[in-house]
Amino acid sequence: MEWRIVKDYEELSLMAARFVAAQVKNKPNSVLGLATGSTPIGMYRELTRMVERGELSLQQVVTFNLDEYIGLAPDHPQSYHYYMHHHFFSHVDIPAGQIHLPYVEKGAAQEEDCEACEAYDRMIEEHGGIDLQVLGIGRNGHIGFNEPSISLEVGTHIVTLTEETRQANARFFQRIEEVPTHAVTMGVGSIMKAERILLLASGSDKKEVLARLYAEGVRTELPASLLHVHQDVTVIADREAAAWLPVGESLKG
Ligand code: F6R
Repeated sequence: MEWRIVKDYEELSLMAARFVAAQVKNKPNSVLGLATGSTPIGMYRELTRMVERGELSLQQVVTFNLDEYIGLAPDHPQSYHYYMHHHFFSHVDIPAGQIHLPYVEKGAAQEEDCEACEAYDRMIEEHGGIDLQVLGIGRNGHIGFNEPSISLEVGTHIVTLTEETRQANARFFQRIEEVPTHAVTMGVGSIMKAERILLLASGSDKKEVLARLYAEGVRTELPASLLHVHQDVTVIADREAAAWLPVGESLKG
């Protein structure tokens, strides 16, 4: 795991965008795994600028998003479909047919048996797997919506969101009751199969979980810790998120 500590969110966003752009320049038809949340918004903004300035084309890129709530229509302002179109897809040149987000109808939400989930994993495989997976990290160490647990699911699946995650996401809704109780997420196996992984963390909210990720061994109670056994993971963290990391001050800029 390679750690890159940058001054602030602006630098993180720029470095992350350059990382993705380099991947696409190297392989124009890259399959990108994408995340939502507050953290990658600046990265999407910077990538948009690169496309607008004619420095980057995403025309051949194929995307697969990590997760989506269940029970929100794709045009609901808090759905991840909406988020991705608002922050990224509507501003760049990726053809609509090359964009994929998991979607499960509310009525079809059964944790044991999810046809749409299997179809999603098959589709990723059919595209040759993910070349670069962008991840954020939850304060509890979740990646995607893979929450701390005694066991973690391998493939795309339906999850019941923890109270902590619902509370953390309540800021985007009027009332906590409106936060969906279920979501569909790529599993840790789907994430770990990616060729390369880029994990982004910003702000002091993440300093504790990053310190745990840095210091602890692999355990399902800290889902992001699985990344320790992946051969190509880069973590970009800003100084606030890296505050509790026992890494050299030089790294912290
Ligand atoms: C979003 C996702 C989540 C977030 C995580 C961090 O697609 O998969 O795991 O990356 O909850 O969210 P933020 O960036 O809002 O702190």
